[in-house]
Amino acid sequence: MTIQTAEDLAKLKTIGKIVADTIRLMGKCLEPGMTTQELDTIGSDYLTQQGARSAPKFCYGFPGATCISINHEVAHGLPGLKKIQPGDLVNIDVSAEKQGYFADSGFTFVVPPVSSQKLALTQAARAVLNQCLATVKAGMPLNSIGKTISKQAKRYGYTIIKNLGSHGVGGALHEEPEFIAPYYDKQDQRILHKGMVITIEPFLSTGAQYANEANDGWTLTIPPRYLAAQYEHSIVITDDKPIVLTN
Ligand code: CO
Ligand code: CO
Repeated sequence: MTIQTAEDLAKLKTIGKIVADTIRLMGKCLEPGMTTQELDTIGSDYLTQQGARSAPKFCYGFPGATCISINHEVAHGLPGLKKIQPGDLVNIDVSAEKQGYFADSGFTFVVPPVSSQKLALTQAARAVLNQCLATVKAGMPLNSIGKTISKQAKRYGYTIIKNLGSHGVGGALHEEPEFIAPYYDKQDQRILHKGMVITIEPFLSTGAQYANEANDGWTLTIPPRYLAAQYEHSIVITDDKPIVLTN
């Protein structure tokens, strides 16, 4: 969506904070031995308490409130009976709606003991997102986001998952501008304009370039020999630094 009123911004900030707090709470509770279902319930209960609805459940019938993706699962992982293990790379992606406004955010946690490989990958993915947040503003081509992501990922020595893009958000979970490529797409003529609400969500990997849908019809995976990490924020484009809704 594109923000029209102060009320739009206030309501987006409300749902943005709920989403961010849900991820923080789930991250704090994350420990070996718990099932992803138990972790999802913590997030689900918090969203309900805050008067918010899980967006993937409500928009797409996702069988859980939050997406929990472990190791070579990179996105849309289903909460279930799988137990979290020491050393796991756990991506928690929460998107939710309140009063008709949507926000979407993701964070990759490493369950101790933290290997230097996993630490470096997660730090690089975060740094790439921050690099994008430091540079996007109204008037820039939309494809400058993919240009920054691919250039920075390469600089850190990682590949990007090319079929997982960023997207418009705010009035729906996924809306215009759809699929903002994580690479430089010179065909893409779209422009970032003031008030536009989008996510930025780079997926960095130790070698994978595409994610495939698993047999469950939801989980997106990469070959098990690779790892991936994603960080995502929902933001509002301005003439200067973006407003980060999910901090
Ligand atoms: Co997300
Ligand atoms: Co998203």
